[in-house]
Amino acid sequence: MCGIVGYFGPLEAKKVILEGLRKLEYRGYDSAGVSILDGPHFKRVRAEGKLKYLESRLAEENFSGHLGIGHTRWATHGAPSERNAHPHEVRGVSLVHNGIIENYLEIREALIEQGAELTSDTDSELVAHLIADEVEREKDLLAAVIKVLPRLRGAFSILVVWERQPDRLIAFKDGPPLIVGLCEGQALVVSDVQAGLAYTKRFVYLGDREIAEVLRGPVRFFSAEGKPIEKTITEVKWSSEAAEKQGFSHYMLKEIYEQPKAVSQALSPHLHIEKSEISMDWGQQDWDLTKVQRILMVACGTSYYAALTGKYYIEKLARIPVDVDLASEFRYREPVLSPTDLVVTISQSGETADTLAALRLAKQQHVKVLSLCNVKGSTIDRSADGHFYMNAGPEIGVASTKAFTCTLSVLVCFSAHLAKERGRLPKYLENEIVRALTELPGQLELVLSFDKYFSEAAIELKNHRGFLFMGRGVNYPMALEGALKLKELAYLHAEGYAAGEMKHGPLALIDRHMAIVMLAPADEWYEKTISNLEEAKARGGQIISIGTVGDEKLRQLSQRFLAIPRAHWAVNPILSVVPLQLMAFHLADSLGHDVDQPRNLAKSVTVE
Ligand code: F6R
Repeated sequence: MCGIVGYFGPLEAKKVILEGLRKLEYRGYDSAGVSILDGPHFKRVRAEGKLKYLESRLAEENFSGHLGIGHTRWATHGAPSERNAHPHEVRGVSLVHNGIIENYLEIREALIEQGAELTSDTDSELVAHLIADEVEREKDLLAAVIKVLPRLRGAFSILVVWERQPDRLIAFKDGPPLIVGLCEGQALVVSDVQAGLAYTKRFVYLGDREIAEVLRGPVRFFSAEGKPIEKTITEVKWSSEAAEKQGFSHYMLKEIYEQPKAVSQALSPHLHIEKSEISMDWGQQDWDLTKVQRILMVACGTSYYAALTGKYYIEKLARIPVDVDLASEFRYREPVLSPTDLVVTISQSGETADTLAALRLAKQQHVKVLSLCNVKGSTIDRSADGHFYMNAGPEIGVASTKAFTCTLSVLVCFSAHLAKERGRLPKYLENEIVRALTELPGQLELVLSFDKYFSEAAIELKNHRGFLFMGRGVNYPMALEGALKLKELAYLHAEGYAAGEMKHGPLALIDRHMAIVMLAPADEWYEKTISNLEEAKARGGQIISIGTVGDEKLRQLSQRFLAIPRAHWAVNPILSVVPLQLMAFHLADSLGHDVDQPRNLAKSVTVE
């Protein structure tokens, strides 16, 4: 979604803002722009397309200044174009916006009636008009924002400056994140901490309907009505280097290769190797999870597939019934909730609008919410009752990889913890799971060392018309995830199926043009999966199988056999998804696609 960066301080604002916007490129965008106060007026430069076009435009201009705002836009109202790019300027007011103003039509009609001249098709420009009108009356930007805020409906975060008060930035939001970076003698406002990490590790997350008046150094916070409020400071541990490519050609590739380390980081708070124990702490010691009668897991996209895997883990180990919902469905389907339920939200970014809405719905109905996030301090993290983390480190590639495997690893611990609390985890089983998780980072290293074979397999996939990913049990969600990775990166049609569903439809699709990616590691579902594989093969399907090293039977049944190490059933999916990630990466790369920023997609989906 859109990226926002604002700066005021001793440095060249243009440079700081561009640097920040570059860090936000991963979120996906289609145009970009900056406004810098040069003398008494703002100088604005905007360009359609990637940041490099904005940079080359800026290189042609000769201006500089110390106060400015910048934006990368992901179009909602109005096509991607220079005229719709931000900042929007109206009579000395310059503004950038992320989100949607829902009462846009009503505001637009009123402004046109008053004779406003609109220069774009966006909802954002309308807010700049409203503030410009108010600031003329109020002669103060904060007072103008306090007047305008109640008129806006929707999900938005806005950063605004006014040339007549060249010593401040005003930030306000109701929805997507907006964060104030605290640094001595400088002011920074960003939509994602990544954009500010080079300058500070201390951030204040603005709450909904809150306003920040950011001066060069001091920052004051207000409620929507203008009453001063206190805010807490969050210390972010990530370093800015962690968000660099570090010699890899792509962020996604770097993140795939980081998985052994990331998974070990994710496991470390919960896995006590010396005592051979698993235990979790989500900051709510008084919760009695033995009273929970049902768990509802809610998420979107890849995080949803992690939740589906979590259902297998929890039901098998802890014997608690689990329902899994897409957040976009959950929030509108009037779910029946009870106080003995526990809602678990899963979100890498912690900002996904649908997941956040689902969380709020659960809280309104007095159901406890436990959040599993990667970004500490994100809106979902802050809004939940209990918290645990993926601990994957910054994930920049739009397609989620390491956050997914870290989530699965944490969910294995969560299930074991629940089982233990209910007296359902015999010590031998706990030892077995601890051993499996302890070996996991090393096994991931081993899988990564087979990358050459995954890349060869990916090139063969190029010749196929369609792709069916299949698996059973805990590997069924991996089939869904493998198909999603191929769709979003290679732009090829792929379907994920539970292998047992083949006879109920997908078998009709199979001929020699169809590639079947079969997940068949040695586990309790193996024999059944092999039968499904034989059915597909008999109909001409080209089989690429992922199975346990040394499985000669599977090798012989397959055109290509990709091996993963022998592992515990709960750990198998964490290993088997890695070849799928790498095949999607290599295929997309060989097709010349922008792997880190697939078309039409954004890293953090902060609007519906
Ligand atoms: C796919 C992908 C998305 C996200 C989804 C949820 O590779 O990354 O499907 O998983 O948008 O995002 P979070 O986890 O941030 O809520």
